[in-house]
Amino acid sequence: MSHPPAEIGAREAALEALLAFYVDAGVDLALDEAPHDRFAEPDRPQPRGEQARPAPAPSEPRQPAAPAFAAAASADETALAACATARGATSLDELREALAAFDGCALKATAKNLVFADGTPGARVMLVGEAPGREEDIQGKPFVGRSGQLLDRMLSAIGLDRGSVYIANIVPWRPPGNRTPTPQEAAICRPFIERQIELCDPDVLVCLGGPSAQALLGVREGILRTRGKWFDYETGRRTIRALATLHPAYLLRQPAQKRLAWRDLRALRKVLDETAGAARS
Ligand code: URA
Repeated sequence: MSHPPAEIGAREAALEALLAFYVDAGVDLALDEAPHDRFAEPDRPQPRGEQARPAPAPSEPRQPAAPAFAAAASADETALAACATARGATSLDELREALAAFDGCALKATAKNLVFADGTPGARVMLVGEAPGREEDIQGKPFVGRSGQLLDRMLSAIGLDRGSVYIANIVPWRPPGNRTPTPQEAAICRPFIERQIELCDPDVLVCLGGPSAQALLGVREGILRTRGKWFDYETGRRTIRALATLHPAYLLRQPAQKRLAWRDLRALRKVLDETAGAARS
């Protein structure tokens, strides 16, 4: 059946408007050719740790305690598997391989690439961001998009660059639409980033943004309260100093806050200078 040109033009305009709506809503990734109604699909296997218990048949009596326990047990299993896998890696290369083979985090299914690290293992400073964005996902490297360019300028302001630091994220796969990783995703990936810090063995850890500070330093307050504060961080080998500061993506949105980040960077420089000669134990 053919459609008159005016009708085709109206359909195209409606489709364009729908696409613009999706882009505004943060959807920039098509996972499949055709849409799926996931609610209408029969149960299918889910990543370990995220398995829902099958819904009880209508005649089955309700058992409130069991579903929660079953779900918690499998989440625990995934967490245990993440800890054991991360612990088993004895080098950063082994850890990267172990992460690439780990199927416990659903973010892996929608990401293009594992974004493990950039910079120099063993550098005195390790920076940990939140999660890869679109550019990082495409290139498989952390902080290569707009916030990465700002991060490079921030580092250069205190005499550092990518070669003199090591950079990673609390979650190594891009969350769809660049959303913040859920607490569950961050928790599943935490043993890996903790092991990465231990194996990198920096003198100073810098948490970029609230989710990183919350995941690694155990703080609950927002980043505007925690930034600029120093913490002790136990790597597993030794206690090092850790600083929370503002995320470059936040600074791109709130440039007036760069003065606070500048204070933090100067404090970092000072600690590096003061401890330059200290031997690692
Ligand atoms: N934001 C992050 O937290 N990490 C990246 O790698 C890029 C942007």
